Amino acid sequence: MPTPILHKESLIPGKTSKLVLHAPQIAQKARPGHFVMLRMSEQGERIPLTIADTDRENGTITIVYLVMGKSTAMLEALGVGDAILDVCGPLGHPTHIEKRGTVVCVGGGTGIAAMHHIAKGHARIGNKVVGVIGARSKDLLLFENELKSFVDELLVSTDDGSYGHKGLVTELLRDRLEKDKDVFEVVAVGPVPMMAAVAETTRPFGVKTTVSLNPIMVDGIGMCGACRVTVGGKTKFACVDGPEFDGHEVDFPELRRRLAAYREQETISIEEYRR
Ligand code: FAD
Ligand code: NAD
Ligand code: FES
Repeated sequence: MPTPILHKESLIPGKTSKLVLHAPQIAQKARPGHFVMLRMSEQGERIPLTIADTDRENGTITIVYLVMGKSTAMLEALGVGDAILDVCGPLGHPTHIEKRGTVVCVGGGTGIAAMHHIAKGHARIGNKVVGVIGARSKDLLLFENELKSFVDELLVSTDDGSYGHKGLVTELLRDRLEKDKDVFEVVAVGPVPMMAAVAETTRPFGVKTTVSLNPIMVDGIGMCGACRVTVGGKTKFACVDGPEFDGHEVDFPELRRRLAAYREQETISIEEYRR
C-alpha cells in the first residue's frame, strides 16, 4: 500500500535523512528492534530499514537512512506529499527488554538512530541507560539531543576529535566497563566493523552483548536465504531469527564477505541511475 511521507528532515545534507511516514497499522504493532521492508518502484528491490521511532497516537513511524546506493538514492529523491510504493512490517523479532539495571547502548553513525529506539525501550521500562555514540566528525553525529532527553549518561566520540572524546566508541565503552561493574547488557547498532569491535571489547568483561545485524535482505520474511548469517556455528536468517544476535557468537568475517558480494553490480546500478 502506498505510504505517504508526512515529514522529511535532512540530518546530514545529501547523506542522511529522516522520514516520518503515515503507517498507522505498523505504528500500532512496532516495538524497538523491528524493521520494515520498503520498495520504491514496481521493478525495484526491497530494502530493510529499522524503525527509529513510532507515534501510535498519530499513526506514524520514523525511519533514518544513509544514502548508499540506488534504492536509498531513490528514497532520498522523494519528499513530503510523495508516497513510498510499499512499506511492509513490522518485521523481525523486537529487542528483548526487561528491567534488570544498567544497559549500555552503543550507536555508530547512522546506527545511532536505530539504537535510539532500543535505548528508549530500556528507559521506559526503568533500566538505567548509558548511551555511547560516535561519528567520524561532529557534523555527522545524529540524535544527540533526542538521546539526552531520556538517557542517564551520554558518552560521545568523534574519530577526528571535533567533538567529545577523540577516537572510537569502543574506547569509551571499555573505559565505562572498567569504571563500574554494574552493566548487565551492551547493545550495539552500526557498521559491521564497529559491532565486531564492540563484541571483542565486552568479551573479557563477560557482559552479554547484543548486535543488530544488517546483511543484504531480499524478501525479509525467511523465504529467500539472502540474509544468511552464522551465529554460534549455526545458520540463521537475520530477518526471521534476528536481526539481533549474541555478538560473541556472530561470524563477522563471513558477514563482511557476504555484504560485499554484489558490490560490482551495486556500483553499476547507482552509476546507471545517476546518468
Ligand atoms: P546498495 O546498492 O545495495 O549498496 C551500496 C553499498 O552499500 C555497497 O557498497 C554495499 O556493499 C553496501 N551495502 C549494501 N547493503 C548493506 C548493508 N545492509 N549494510 C552495510 N552495507 C551495505 N541502513 C540505514 O541507513 N538505516 C537503517 O535504519 C538501516 N536499518 C537496517 C536494518 C536491517 C535489519 C538491515 C538488514 C539493514 C539496515 N540498513 C539500514 C542497511 C540498508 O538496508 C542498506 O544500506 C540498503 O539496503 C542499501 O541499499 P542501496 O540500494 O541504497 O545500496
Ligand atoms: P561510520 O563508518 O561513519 O562509523 C560510525 C562510528 O562507528 C565511528 O565514528 C566509530 O566510533 C564507530 N566505528 C566504526 N568502525 C569501527 C571499528 N572498526 N571499531 C570501533 N568503532 C568503530 O558509520 P556510517 O557510515 O554511518 O555507517 C553506518 C552503518 O550502520 C551502515 O553500515 C548501515 O548499514 C548500518 N546501520 C545498521 C542499522 C541496523 O539496524 N542494523 C541501522 C542503521 C545503520
Ligand atoms: Fe530472505 Fe531473510 S531476507 S530469508
